[in-house]
Amino acid sequence: MLLTRNVYIKVQSTGFMKSDDFKVTPWEASENINYERLVSQFGVEHISEELKERIEKISGKHFMLDRKIFFAHRDLKWLLDEYDKGNKFFIYTGRSPSGPIHIGHLMAWQFTKFLQDAFDTELWFQFPDEEKFLFKKDLSLEDTQKYLEENMLDVIALGFNPKKTHFIINTKHADLLYPEACKVAKKITLSMVKSSFGLDDSSNIGQIFYTSMQAVPAFLPSLIKKKKIPCLIPHAIDQDPHFRLTRDILPKLGHHKPASIQCSFLPPLTGVSGKMSSSKEESTIHTTDSPKEVERKIKKYAFSGGKDTLEEHRRHGGNPDIDVSFQYLRHMFEPDEKKLRDIYNAYKSGAMTSGELKQITINKINEFLKEHQKKRILAKNKIKDFIYKKD
Ligand code: TRP
Repeated sequence: MLLTRNVYIKVQSTGFMKSDDFKVTPWEASENINYERLVSQFGVEHISEELKERIEKISGKHFMLDRKIFFAHRDLKWLLDEYDKGNKFFIYTGRSPSGPIHIGHLMAWQFTKFLQDAFDTELWFQFPDEEKFLFKKDLSLEDTQKYLEENMLDVIALGFNPKKTHFIINTKHADLLYPEACKVAKKITLSMVKSSFGLDDSSNIGQIFYTSMQAVPAFLPSLIKKKKIPCLIPHAIDQDPHFRLTRDILPKLGHHKPASIQCSFLPPLTGVSGKMSSSKEESTIHTTDSPKEVERKIKKYAFSGGKDTLEEHRRHGGNPDIDVSFQYLRHMFEPDEKKLRDIYNAYKSGAMTSGELKQITINKINEFLKEHQKKRILAKNKIKDFIYKKD
């Protein structure tokens, strides 16, 4: 859904201030996203304490649920009810190759892996290698193919089980997807697409068709296995418009509505609102960045909640809530609740400086990337094991 409403955001020390319009579609997100407003505009639900406990009873705890990084859902209660009845679900998520992978992408996939392991499910991972070609002016289909290979390495490096994980590539599995996408497309009118995505008469017709391709993996495993299997889609909240349409249509085709669990974005280096984006070099840490690059980017660009002078900082303390380095620890790199709280308190009291906080974050990211980059190289030989093959 296109959002262009006035929203109010809390601005440090000046209380509430009226902000500019904000906009979130699957293809663009402005810098002042208000997640509360998104929940009500999209019509998704917050994850209640009760639902969280039901998940945790099966999966154990995960900090991304506790810290409300994954904060919204559709039909999770139904999904868990089915699970309790013995109807296990499969997981579906995806990535449109359009550039290199950054740490923000990995955040949602780490949680996806946790879910797959905890519930012992199949994972269907779609690579719509035509999507960004259709939506981005300067991207050729050849470019997306190059990123496709690169992006698959990052997904594999996270350690998904190849026996239970199936990559679906839109242009390569077109024979499987296209007939089903047509059935979906026949139920979607132009006006539904216009109002859901803000497309207009100048949009190319590939864009108008696209959602029907993203809908298919939500029921493809059911067709393959010849029984209706519930589906859970972990995704960043900007993808919700695709799945809202999908949910409207699938029952008309005799399929279950997919359930979803939705996360916010990892913030860009430049500030705690908005979305990390591969096309903005100064806002992004890529999975292939060297330790020196990570250090340079964090030191130079990571927005600091610290005070201007050391003296002031010691006296008044910093603000971890708007500090990007702290937020990276909270979102991804410091799972330990007590350690995170200690850092929060030390920074807020002024005992820890911005330089010290940045150094902790640099070390954590580099430790992670060192391992990730090793696994990424080993992934090259594994791609073929992950690409779905018909029996
Ligand atoms: N449209 C997503 C992107 O821009 C890719 C995608 C396809 C996806 N299917 C998905 C994302 C399912 C989340 C869940 O990257």
